[in-house]
Amino acid sequence: QGGIAVSMDNAHDSPELHFKDTLKAGAGLCDAESVWILVNEAASNIKTLFKYGVNFDMKNKSEPTLSREAAHSTNRIIHAGDTTGKEVCDKLTAVAYTRNNIMIKERTLAVDLVTVDDEVKAIIGYDEDKHTYKAYISTIVICATGGYGYLYKSTTNPNVSTGDGASMAYRAGAKLMDLEFVQFHPTVLYHKDNKSFLISEAVRGEGALLRNINGETFMENYHEQRELAPRDIVSRAIFAEMKKTNSDHVFVDVTSKDPEYFKNRFPNIYKTCMSYGIDFTKEFIPVAPAQHYCMGGIHTDIYGRTNIKGLYACGESACNGIHGANRLASNSLLEGLVFGRKIGDEVTMLLEEQGGKSQDANDVPDIKYVNGRIEKDVDSAKMIEEIREAMTDFVGIIRTGEGLSEALHKVEAIRDYVSDCKLKCHLDFELANMSTLAVLVIKSCIERTESRGGHYRSDYPETLEVWRHNIIV
Ligand code: SIN
Repeated sequence: QGGIAVSMDNAHDSPELHFKDTLKAGAGLCDAESVWILVNEAASNIKTLFKYGVNFDMKNKSEPTLSREAAHSTNRIIHAGDTTGKEVCDKLTAVAYTRNNIMIKERTLAVDLVTVDDEVKAIIGYDEDKHTYKAYISTIVICATGGYGYLYKSTTNPNVSTGDGASMAYRAGAKLMDLEFVQFHPTVLYHKDNKSFLISEAVRGEGALLRNINGETFMENYHEQRELAPRDIVSRAIFAEMKKTNSDHVFVDVTSKDPEYFKNRFPNIYKTCMSYGIDFTKEFIPVAPAQHYCMGGIHTDIYGRTNIKGLYACGESACNGIHGANRLASNSLLEGLVFGRKIGDEVTMLLEEQGGKSQDANDVPDIKYVNGRIEKDVDSAKMIEEIREAMTDFVGIIRTGEGLSEALHKVEAIRDYVSDCKLKCHLDFELANMSTLAVLVIKSCIERTESRGGHYRSDYPETLEVWRHNIIV
């Protein structure tokens, strides 16, 4: 909803300032080299999007409108209304469909990598309609599989964010990093029929206030940047305010703002709120924090390379250290663009060097694929909900050693039960992946005995210098 952070050529901004803001939000754990590439290559990647016809909101013929989001020291978010990600995806997907060297296999789930001596040789795909398996032979595999937000019950993520790529890569021997850093978005619609619709931070960037259920503003009591403080701080402030007022939500208030401007600037948010009977020009929007983004993922270098030869990762499935302990708003679409392109460039070069002919993906024979030895009753839907419940109750905005141990106990039992059983459908695979990843996330949370960015432990509230390093599993 927010957009893409980019320092365009203007008097108020520079890649250096964007670099500084990203590092500050990352709470001491950003990888400076990766961040510099991100901010420095931002503008050229945005130019490519213009070339592909992405319709950004424009101030005039050549300058996009720049808006503000939390923890950015200036206006630098370019956007296409309040559905920028969709606009970018729609345009790029349309281009992909015109290319005769790109084959898109829908309803095919990647279930496992085949490696020999830590080198990728193939990827196993499961055909959800025919219930068959194929091994797609390839020396290069790029994971662009998103995050693991669906480990939580209340999340802005779609229900495919089950961490399949990270879990698959882990089974193949890839390193994962920073799994304990999970971002909770402060303002997600709180309505009995919808607890996953985002009320963009850009709304606060345009001057919206937060109010508790008594109608009082409160951010002035928590941070000098008030509503535009870093996300982890705003989320914890809302959590504290909800506790104080014994409520399960707070409000976003734009009622004193120009109604026509806000309706035009946020057409999708306006339409969606109206569909739940909330007219934001006249009444407050009820909101609560919800899981939003995973800073951790498959550990890569600046070219998207993992420790498995031929395996790459980009976007939310990857972790090259640009977000550190807490991602700066609107840096994630940018990450996808910049590092997706870098991998594309490197892989193109490698394939040209290899000079091999690609396999025809339409002409791949079925294989026999055995993923577990024991036939067991597995109620995947139920077990997935149990994992999500444990993660939400104990691995959320505020964590304790005791709660984390309880969550680990519950989730490990599920993982162990599933680990040797025959997986037979999409949901079974997701359950196996989610239980694997949930255990790793919780263990990382237990190990990090401090609070930093998206990881807050009430039993270890301080940020400690000895912990200024990443946890790699
Ligand atoms: C938002 O619009 O608030 C979300 C944007 C982001 O997470 O970067």
